[in-house]
Amino acid sequence: MSQDEPDVQVVPGGQGGKRSEGGQHKPGGQGGHEGDPVIEVSGLWTVFGDNVVHRDLELTVMPGEVVSLVGGSGSGKTTLMRQILGLEHPHRGSIKVFGIPLLGSHPLLLRKIRRRWGVLSQEGALYSALPVFENIVLPLRELRAFDEGFIHDMVMLKLDMVDIERRHAWKMPADLSGGMIKRIALARALVLEPELLFLDEPTAGLDPDRSESFVKLIQSL
Ligand SMILES: Nc1ncnc2c1ncn2[C@@H]1O[C@H](COP(=O)(O)OP(=O)(O)O)[C@@H](O)[C@H]1O
Ligand SMILES: [Mg+2]
Repeated sequence: MSQDEPDVQVVPGGQGGKRSEGGQHKPGGQGGHEGDPVIEVSGLWTVFGDNVVHRDLELTVMPGEVVSLVGGSGSGKTTLMRQILGLEHPHRGSIKVFGIPLLGSHPLLLRKIRRRWGVLSQEGALYSALPVFENIVLPLRELRAFDEGFIHDMVMLKLDMVDIERRHAWKMPADLSGGMIKRIALARALVLEPELLFLDEPTAGLDPDRSESFVKLIQSL
């Protein structure tokens, strides 16, 4: 990896090309993205032994933006996402999500911001022992705030949204294709109506046709 190139490039989704040199975004400079940043990463370093994964990384994501991180395998995309999700801590630097610093904030506050995002992990994994319906419903059940009728409707609406027929709700993951599993994992990521959606290699493992239709689906959200 060359020293001059950033390990991870930041590109605007759906438009192609690099957003700006070094991946830094000037608020207001792009037009149409008003308000406070949704994500602010500043001076972030990640070092494992002598492997410097992130070198003084800066990233600002504004409301309404779709940002893609592009980089080779092992360049640090997943690690950065996990750090923004608060699952790992960088060695140096600060991360704010919705204006709240991940380090030093009260656990209750952090739990609240976790409900404002959805995550589709690289594996897009569903629990193999649970049918589709129960997989999608998990984030709702954790909140223990909704009655069964509401939960049912919510799951069905999300299935509609990701173009999965409602009759598949009681199938087991093993009986579904890879493309369907991705869509259902996306439905689960969307079930709390997140303001922020993280997708780690959403099209990995899909054939070109399914991959393209998945990208269209994400763009349509
Ligand atoms: N817990 C860890 N301990 C040591 N090295 C790690 C750890 N997590 C990630 N890495 C290393 O950090 C680098 C970035 O990994 P990752 O974020 O998964 O890359 P990407 O998602 O871009 O393929 C890799 O070299 C990986 O081996
Ligand atoms: Mg990865």
